[in-house]
Amino acid sequence: MAKTPPPFLSILIFLSLFTCLSESRLDLNYYSKSCPRFNDIMRDTITNKQITTPTTAAATLRLFFHDAILNGVDASVLISSTPFNKAERDADINLSLPGDAFDVVTRAKTALELSCPNTVSCADILAVATRDLVTMVGGPYYNVVLGRKDGRISKASTVDGNLPKPTMPMSQILEIFKNRNFTEQEMVALSGAHTIGFSHCKEFSSSIYNDTNHYNPRFVQGLQRACGDYQKNPTLSVFNDIMTPNKFDNLYYQNLPKGLGLLESDHGLNSDLRTQRFVDMYARDQNLFFRDFARAMEKLGVYGVKTGRGGEIRHRCDAIN
Ligand code: HEM
Repeated sequence: MAKTPPPFLSILIFLSLFTCLSESRLDLNYYSKSCPRFNDIMRDTITNKQITTPTTAAATLRLFFHDAILNGVDASVLISSTPFNKAERDADINLSLPGDAFDVVTRAKTALELSCPNTVSCADILAVATRDLVTMVGGPYYNVVLGRKDGRISKASTVDGNLPKPTMPMSQILEIFKNRNFTEQEMVALSGAHTIGFSHCKEFSSSIYNDTNHYNPRFVQGLQRACGDYQKNPTLSVFNDIMTPNKFDNLYYQNLPKGLGLLESDHGLNSDLRTQRFVDMYARDQNLFFRDFARAMEKLGVYGVKTGRGGEIRHRCDAIN
């Protein structure tokens, strides 16, 4: 007959199980006791940064996406390379991630470390900063559950093929999302992020010079003029949504059927039968877009997330402890 463990051992097992479970659960109020000023510090840092540098919102939203889609929001994209490791952020596609997005996370982390050391993960900071910045530029508010841990691995070699590129066929882009359990509709809703921010000319140069069919003729002429010098000046860039570039709204979808989309992948959403009806729906109904974008962002925020002992609380966001 199996022996029952002595009572003190049962209590120990119960306590360690309980700690493990409560450590690994994501929760809206995760920091309410351990870092009561978390929300205030985040809000102050983000407001200051966005007011002085209005490109921060789009920059951070893209950074969040590039972190999340690879192996969950674990701030692995924030880690700097070392002589022994080429990190994610030094993969080709990530070289254009804007410094201001990294900066807003660093600022929040510095302020939070002063108020509650070794408590708040960089992954949670990135998730909340993104939500607050999206809201600040007019987008929907959504809940961000907290308690993510930071990843300990960041390798440039894992990036290629896992992040969408504008020149990929739509099937390949859809596959990237499908592999992570995101539907075609969720992919279209998330792509509405291109309602803010900009793209460098090299990202769409082959379309505006060689394959102009999808563009409105006057728009493509304007793009050719704006990007004329892009090989000499690689910083040249154009707004993703030329109608309301700084406002989070559904104009991105309204632009697409008019030939006012920028990237080949943006046009692709409107020419592929699997995605076109969602472009149509979101172009007609901004509330629906906001609802679906918010839901998809909540889902992206918990996809593959690390909790408990699956990760760490980094001391600095750009280096593993
Ligand atoms: C569906 C496939 C997607 C492709 C092919 C794609 C590609 C790109 C490219 C090439 C740029 C320009 C980057 C530069 O030149 O600096 C860009 C910008 C941007 N992307 Fe995407 N993207 C996709 C989906 C998404 C998603 C799902 C999000 C967020 C949820 C997102 C957020 C952004 C934002 C906010 C910008 C502007 C960044 C800035 O202004 O700094 N993208 N994207």
